[in-house]
Amino acid sequence: MLMARQPQASIKTPVEQEAMRVAGRLAADVLDLIGPQVVPGITTGELDRICHDYIVNVRQAVPAPLHYRGFPRSICTSVNHVVCHGIPGPRVLRSGDIVNVDITVIRDGFHGDSSRMFLVGDCPVQARRLCRIAHEALWRGIGVVAPGRTLGDIGHAIQQHVEAEGYSVVQEYCGHGIGRAFHEDPQVLHYGTPGTGLMLEPGMTFTIEPMVNAGQRHVKLLGDGWTVVTRDHSLSAQWEHTVLVTADGVEVLTLGAAERVRS
Ligand code: MF3
Ligand code: CO
Ligand code: CO
Repeated sequence: MLMARQPQASIKTPVEQEAMRVAGRLAADVLDLIGPQVVPGITTGELDRICHDYIVNVRQAVPAPLHYRGFPRSICTSVNHVVCHGIPGPRVLRSGDIVNVDITVIRDGFHGDSSRMFLVGDCPVQARRLCRIAHEALWRGIGVVAPGRTLGDIGHAIQQHVEAEGYSVVQEYCGHGIGRAFHEDPQVLHYGTPGTGLMLEPGMTFTIEPMVNAGQRHVKLLGDGWTVVTRDHSLSAQWEHTVLVTADGVEVLTLGAAERVRS
């Protein structure tokens, strides 16, 4: 008889945790920088260029997506029915669009990964509501992180909130352990059953990044090999934080300046 293999998660030392704080703060700084520039008339390619230049030239860090498994740009920009991994390019943002900007940086060998939704100009009430519920879902997930809780507890909290609001959770993509590698074990599913899965321990670092669809949960991959869209073309929203499990709960490593003053 063989024991079933449990997915592992590395425990970061205090020195590694500090490096993760620095990387996480940097990712948050990039989002703080780009947010006010997500306005009607700008292209997603211009957003990529601004972020790239800031990360590389101002902060002397590395944009992790660039050349990652062949990804051609430094950030991901996912507009409207794009679920995730949208490639920045000539698309001009228009009033009423919703866009996820996903930033991952490498600083002194450690990764920080965070994404936010931005409303371009005036957005319909349904689009604003979707973005709000997806944000709440992320925080429901963060809210259960503590030693002794499980990955299933996180997934359940997210799924329960999203489905109670009439939306659906994407299942093909998930959060992930993070550290010296961009994507480490374990996989952090955004749906699940309480009390199941890996038990959380102090020193683990991982992302939570629920993708929430206004319609059905199903997705399809476009021919560029990256862009993921909703199969029914309904709107999709995603927010992401990198978190550290602490002795008595959770520390969110990618809080923006506005979130830091309140916590
Ligand atoms: N930042 C994404 C995540 O949250 C991954 C992007 S992979 C890329 O895991 F290659 F598209 F950049
Ligand atoms: Co991530
Ligand atoms: Co990300």
